[in-house]
Amino acid sequence: MTHFATIDELRRRAKRRVPKMFYEYVDAGSWTESTYRANAEDFTRLKFRQRVAVDFSQRNLTTTMAGHAVAMPVALAPTGIAGMQHADGEILAARAAERFGVPFTLSTVSVCSIEDVAANTDGPFWFQLYMMKDRGFIANLIQRAQLAGCSALVLTLDLQIQGRRHKDLRNGLSTPPKLNLRNLAHLARYPSWCLGMLRTKRHTFGNIVGHAPGVTSIASMADWALTQFDPTLTWKDIEWVRRQWSGKLILKGILDPEDARIALDCGADALIVSNHGGRQLDGAPSTISMLPRIAEAVHGDIELQMDGGIYCGQDVLRALACGAQGVYIGRAFLYGLGAMGEAGVTRALEIIREELDVTMALCGVSDVRNVDGCILQEGGFHASRRDLPHVAGEQAHMHAA
Ligand SMILES: Cc1cc2nc3c(=O)[nH]c(=O)nc-3n(C[C@H](O)[C@H](O)[C@H](O)COP(=O)(O)O)c2cc1C
Repeated sequence: MTHFATIDELRRRAKRRVPKMFYEYVDAGSWTESTYRANAEDFTRLKFRQRVAVDFSQRNLTTTMAGHAVAMPVALAPTGIAGMQHADGEILAARAAERFGVPFTLSTVSVCSIEDVAANTDGPFWFQLYMMKDRGFIANLIQRAQLAGCSALVLTLDLQIQGRRHKDLRNGLSTPPKLNLRNLAHLARYPSWCLGMLRTKRHTFGNIVGHAPGVTSIASMADWALTQFDPTLTWKDIEWVRRQWSGKLILKGILDPEDARIALDCGADALIVSNHGGRQLDGAPSTISMLPRIAEAVHGDIELQMDGGIYCGQDVLRALACGAQGVYIGRAFLYGLGAMGEAGVTRALEIIREELDVTMALCGVSDVRNVDGCILQEGGFHASRRDLPHVAGEQAHMHAA
């Protein structure tokens, strides 16, 4: 297993093992994919300060995300139909995350249901909610998450209408794939994937089929999904969700400082700076480039998390330096899942942990909780981050010598 040294090696293995329709569902952004590319590329603009002669023999990567203890500040992002990257994908990813000590976030549009993941894991996981028109269904979904012991609710705000993804349209993406001649010939090229799917009963949207009124089959699910994402969603609805859910509430999809400031009044516990992995508004800036401005806007009044373009531990460190308390990985863990199931997700997390640990040491920092803008060279996205009130104290301390 250890022969996978990078996330890109896992990606290449996944590309060989996962049918193109589902591999390209992951490895894609909307329209020209410029935001998808920028998410990863912009990280490389942030250069580290190499520090020497600092004792880093006792290192710590543990911290908290939304009040939960984590083995490192990295959670698994909610991703739809992970159960199509690998049979029982959500259960396998949740188990890998649980054993590793990081949060797993189950998507509303997962294959394995909330109850199914809860029954097949030991610890609590997080649940991601999309706001649908049918508020009765949503209230029930929130209650199901509560009953299953989910310890945080992640409300996604940036997908009330779907950005066009050309690859999905060309591939005729559906869950499960339509069994026409063209698809059957295609799937036959991925025997281990097919075998896994034949062995499991989990083939469609477990949280929805049998729960949403009138959605009893895959065919009725498609019609329901097309009409259900609620375009009328406003901040009032977020307050409604807050009233339904007594646990930690995390708002996902904040990319603008003004929205971040508005979000402060919603009673949320954390915000995720995110552009949905470049899958929604193509032409929007990368998340890492917006993170410092959003950090400045919220002034330490709420925990900030981020996702988008993280494929190595170095980028986790860069995100922390720009103001995030923790990050989420989407594709990085899905490639591991597609490549090798649970072991692949574990390997993805190991790769990121190793890179994070060594890079932190080379920057002269021993505790991930002390990472701040000081580890970056001047001239990044926010050269003056060290002027922010909530980091000024740490900076002064670190530079006192
Ligand atoms: C295949 C795929 C499916 C996704 N499905 C969801 C989803 O169901 N709900 C959601 O809030 N975000 C979803 N996202 C967005 C991720 O939660 C996350 O924002 C994004 O993947 C982060 O970028 P990264 O993949 O570069 O790490 C999805 C992303 C991918 C790649």
